[in-house]
Amino acid sequence: MRTDRRSVLKLGAGLLLSHWVRAQRASWPEPPVLRAQEGRLLLELPAAPTRLKVAGREALLWTYGGSFPGPTLRVRPGDEVRLTLVNRLPEATNLHWHGLPIPPKVDDPFREIPKGEAWTYAFTVPKELAGTFWYHPHLHGKVAPQLFAGLAGALVVESPLDRLPELQEAEEHLLVLKDLALENGQPAPHTPMDWVNGKEGDLVLVNGALRPTLQAQKATLRLRLLNAANARYFRLRLEDHPLYLIAADGGFLEEPYELEELLLAPGERAEVLVRFRKEGAFRLLLLPYERGVHAMPMAHGMHGMAPADQEEPLLTLVAPQNPKPLPLPLRLARLPRLEKPQATWRLVFGEDMMAGRFFINGQAFDPKRVDLRGQQGQLILLEVENGGDMDHPFHLHTHPFQVLSLGGKPFPHRAWKDTVNLKAKEVARLLVPLGLPGRTVFHCHIVEHEDRGMMGVLEVG
Ligand code: C2O
Ligand code: CU
Ligand code: CU
Repeated sequence: MRTDRRSVLKLGAGLLLSHWVRAQRASWPEPPVLRAQEGRLLLELPAAPTRLKVAGREALLWTYGGSFPGPTLRVRPGDEVRLTLVNRLPEATNLHWHGLPIPPKVDDPFREIPKGEAWTYAFTVPKELAGTFWYHPHLHGKVAPQLFAGLAGALVVESPLDRLPELQEAEEHLLVLKDLALENGQPAPHTPMDWVNGKEGDLVLVNGALRPTLQAQKATLRLRLLNAANARYFRLRLEDHPLYLIAADGGFLEEPYELEELLLAPGERAEVLVRFRKEGAFRLLLLPYERGVHAMPMAHGMHGMAPADQEEPLLTLVAPQNPKPLPLPLRLARLPRLEKPQATWRLVFGEDMMAGRFFINGQAFDPKRVDLRGQQGQLILLEVENGGDMDHPFHLHTHPFQVLSLGGKPFPHRAWKDTVNLKAKEVARLLVPLGLPGRTVFHCHIVEHEDRGMMGVLEVG
């Protein structure tokens, strides 16, 4: 296919700077949005070291398209995407389309794009797909440092359901949740303990900003949340208000599900409605979460361990005057009941803390080995057991699944997921309809664990 040069969006500093300046002025930061035009999104996206201001400090991050987080791609089912990743990093990289059921030949985690080279990802957004997805590097062994350095962006697939009056009239925002630590104006390097626990940063950012404030114009908000952190869990509660979960990783639920708290493990997404019941400023609080990290006492305290701290504000929502929220949508998507799996597969996560190695079924990742083999159209009951002492979020590419049970309890709602968190010793039972053929991967989405072996290969014929 020839690329029409004139219609390719080139992300030079200019375009993004203008977006950025506008976002700063509005005080609520949101990544620039790149929308498909007439069914096509043609885009040249550089990955490059970029000087930015983060939380009031000068920083040299690695970005997509010059912004942190990267630009939000907005498409519709059936749109054609043609994105050329231009690697201006000092090392090899690649791109993964997290959550999209597209051919593994395109979304290929085994591909390597050397420095100075470019690669074009071309695919059609699947019909029937809608939701909040994301893109990030996936070069084995390099994912953790590259993601921590800033390489991540959201991809929103719009849905006909977005036009339900209860959703269309809501005010929509994206919240990319991502932490960062800076050292000498650069992303702090990984310590040996970071490679065991997964790296967390002291700057807990929303769309790259520290504790931003959103002045709502409307009384109902639709928030798309993405945990794009390496290892930090976001356990969230909104002051004085419940959250109404309407969508999980892979799209809409069947109906809204009321939550007092929302937990997002690395890689997970959620869409929630906020319905202001009074005027005022309400903080979205980050609550402590115990994920079983290993502490190593050091001269200056417990280094590498998230302190078992108290709740802290992540952002503030300011309600409009005299708010009158929209009614809740009664019905959202219709999801298929998956029944009678044809095979049962079992995966067990394992840790060797001392060696800093991680395993699935006792083996570290080997790109040349196929760990699971199936046929397109098969329904698999996949049992994933966390045999370790830390939480591990299980993630599967290409084949969205439904969670049957987690930790012995039936999952509270039907949803398409691609990432599910397992606490220590928990078992998740997943129903996976095998989709597009090809070779793909499953792994822990604490990306340090993925880089250090907690990944396997699935081949569907
Ligand atoms: Cu978001 Cu294989 O990962
Ligand atoms: Cu993925
Ligand atoms: Cu893990």
